[in-house]
Amino acid sequence: MDDRVGMHSIGEAMGSHAQHIDKLWHAMVWVCGFMFLLVLGFLLLALFRRGQRRDSKDPTQANEERGLSLTLVSWIGLIVAGLFGLTLFSYFTDRALVQAAAQPQVQIKITAHQWWWEIEYIDGDPSRQVRTANELHLPVSTPVKVSLESRDVIHSFWVPSLHGKQDMIPGRDNDIELLPQHEGVFRGICAEFCGLQHSKMHLDVIVESREAYAAWYERQLQSAPQPTDALAQRGHGVFMATACNLCHTISGTEAAATTGPDLSHVASRRSIASGALQNHRDNMRTWLANPQAIKPGSHMPTVPLSAEQLDALTAYLGTLQ
Ligand code: CUA
Repeated sequence: MDDRVGMHSIGEAMGSHAQHIDKLWHAMVWVCGFMFLLVLGFLLLALFRRGQRRDSKDPTQANEERGLSLTLVSWIGLIVAGLFGLTLFSYFTDRALVQAAAQPQVQIKITAHQWWWEIEYIDGDPSRQVRTANELHLPVSTPVKVSLESRDVIHSFWVPSLHGKQDMIPGRDNDIELLPQHEGVFRGICAEFCGLQHSKMHLDVIVESREAYAAWYERQLQSAPQPTDALAQRGHGVFMATACNLCHTISGTEAAATTGPDLSHVASRRSIASGALQNHRDNMRTWLANPQAIKPGSHMPTVPLSAEQLDALTAYLGTLQ
């Protein structure tokens, strides 16, 4: 699978919308670049002729003025044609963007929080709704509609490989349509300054085959697995006895709070703390021991835990596939 996490780029369009935007961008660069070179050329020519005229004693003025006005008329014509061409291109790009993902087959609601992403897959049957965080799975070649909301300040949803930016404004419903056309792992970011940890508000976007997506979806529908080994069982006890369960949900347990990310399948995700760290045991332990050291200002408090409790909690979270 193509892995572009960490190198999000508008230059590598992997979705239908991004491809339309990419074409418009190239047209603008070529047309404006050509105009710019023409302006430079005429400027140099004018400077050169000015020097020449100073030397000559008998200018053939009538001929020269006729030539000048012809040049001026062609110049204005070129500018009007260029601007008109770009306006038309922009109009058709807008139309293509609107039509690209007509009739979405997957509906997702993403809510921005300082500083993480809450993701809900909407289904007419409430028992088939999925709630996760910071990792967006999308089936390839399938139109998706994403409703965007914010719980606190203005954020902006941006997956450069798939589409342009869309603001997430508290109290206002925005949406964006996506039509990914290549499988791969892409990076999404928050594109609007939203406070201290704005730069650590990443989203892993995984575009996979429809079969892989369906399998992932079925796994997410399952309750979190029960811990089997003794250390993980102790970790489960730590989670339920300390402040952890006041903010997080783990399906199938009594932890059902929604202030922080849903952790039911946290071990299956690629990263933790909204892309701040890769998801493996050492990083998880470091994060749990002192979240403020990784993301200063994060709303995840430092829960005082002994080394033994930290080991157990890390082991338990590691079982939540
Ligand atoms: Cu959220 Cu910047």
